[in-house]
Amino acid sequence: MILDFTKTDSKEIYKLMAGNIIPRPVAWIVTENKGKINVAPFSYFTGISSKPPLLMVSIGRKKPDIDEPKDTYKNIRETKKATVCLVPVELYEKMDKTGEVLPFGVNEAEKFEIMLERIDENFPPIVKGCKRAFLTELYGTFENEEMATVPFFLKIHKMYIDGDFEPVARVGRGYAKLTEIKN
Ligand SMILES: Cc1cc2nc3c(=O)[nH]c(=O)nc-3n(C[C@H](O)[C@H](O)[C@H](O)COP(=O)(O)O)c2cc1C
Repeated sequence: MILDFTKTDSKEIYKLMAGNIIPRPVAWIVTENKGKINVAPFSYFTGISSKPPLLMVSIGRKKPDIDEPKDTYKNIRETKKATVCLVPVELYEKMDKTGEVLPFGVNEAEKFEIMLERIDENFPPIVKGCKRAFLTELYGTFENEEMATVPFFLKIHKMYIDGDFEPVARVGRGYAKLTEIKN
């Protein structure tokens, strides 16, 4: 079977991509704008370069009830800073909850009782319990009118590392653990 994506509904395309480009890492992004904290997960996310060290995360608009850019999108544009936490297995349920679409200014950390930890005064805090995080600055975006989500390129300034880390992976709309088959 060959599917023609020019004739396929975008929800179906999402299902096919998210269900087959797997596993995907989850970026649990903390931003801070005028003292207000925002926490949200994104799995259109990957590392794209080591020199310079760059990440890419693709961020869309709030839908269906609110049609405006997601808070993370707005905050990165305005402050140029983002702390990208990688999600340990034990925090995946909390992370999933922060995917709820909320009005601008609602602090997910408070609403979902997520603890934060300030590790660097020049970047937003990490989610406490995350064993890996990248402290990043906006490097650039790529956008045009057709794109429903905008890829943000983020330059890593510092990496936080704390002990062993078992990451959670996004598979379709669900989650999985990784099992090594060869070291
Ligand atoms: C695991 C997971 C992955 C997600 N990946 C993305 C993504 O890659 N891009 C995106 O725009 N939204 C993604 N979402 C939805 C956002 O997290 C959601 O819209 C969230 O409310 C955005 O929050 P904000 O407005 O505070 O930035 C994902 C949600 C979950 C639970």
